[in-house]
Amino acid sequence: MTLSIRQIHPVFAGEVLGADLTGPLTREEAAAIDAGMDRYAVLVFRNQNITDDQQMAFTLNFGEIESAPGGNITKPHEYRLKKGMIDVSNLDKEGKPLARDDRRRMFNLGNRLWHSDSSFRAKPAKYSILSARTVASQGGNTEFADMRAAYDTLDDDTRAMIEDLVCEHSLIYSRGSMGFTELTDDEKAMMKPVRQRLVRKHPVTGRKSLYLSSHIGTIVGRPMPEARAFIRDLAEHAVQPKFVYVHKWQQYDLIIWDNRQTMHRVRRFDETQPRDMRRTTVAGDAPTAEQVAA
Ligand SMILES: [Fe+2]
Repeated sequence: MTLSIRQIHPVFAGEVLGADLTGPLTREEAAAIDAGMDRYAVLVFRNQNITDDQQMAFTLNFGEIESAPGGNITKPHEYRLKKGMIDVSNLDKEGKPLARDDRRRMFNLGNRLWHSDSSFRAKPAKYSILSARTVASQGGNTEFADMRAAYDTLDDDTRAMIEDLVCEHSLIYSRGSMGFTELTDDEKAMMKPVRQRLVRKHPVTGRKSLYLSSHIGTIVGRPMPEARAFIRDLAEHAVQPKFVYVHKWQQYDLIIWDNRQTMHRVRRFDETQPRDMRRTTVAGDAPTAEQVAA
């Protein structure tokens, strides 16, 4: 079977045709998807009714699976899915929607903010792979923004000014911005801020992109209010509709996105209904900036 990719947005994002992700990919297919990711940064596959094991096997085509703890406040005994699978559903272990005031639900509402997955980790994620097992009947779209296009359209002065800036990212900042501030000492320790460059360069294409995320709380060497005001300006520029692809989920859609080149967010949906979305994450290969010694 030959893969082909058709672009589905004026600046990025493609739909892959002719792929079957229930079985192993040939080397040529994996290479075609990798090349497609370099170019389009977001790839959509329709009608992929896969198991968790098949999703993890597919993920391993692109690197190691990121399974380090620290991305959530859900405790291991509450996990619905096996290790390696990230639960992005609104469901508890028994498959029931979480209550409105459930702490895990309130924490997960942070996914409504524009972000890049795992930017709060010293070695941030490469790709995320999201499989829609049960979709919301209304709403629940995922939106993606192209951070290369955002970078390319900055003026020269701004590009020169941000070239070497380093930001601090933490779940404390993204959740704090939503008023979710009650964290245990263990959670605070787990969410210790990390440093990331504000401008990234793609290792294959050499294209530069803005590395933005709601996890950013400050810029190294700047007063926090100045940093936040500036990051807010940049983010406003970066998520203009012309840089955004809106995905309306159908059951068994699967999307891969490059966290190094895009931001994303989920939109509101009826949370009394199950929405079962399962993510795997391809680990990144290096930090983007030097960390401060602990
Ligand atoms: Fe995410």
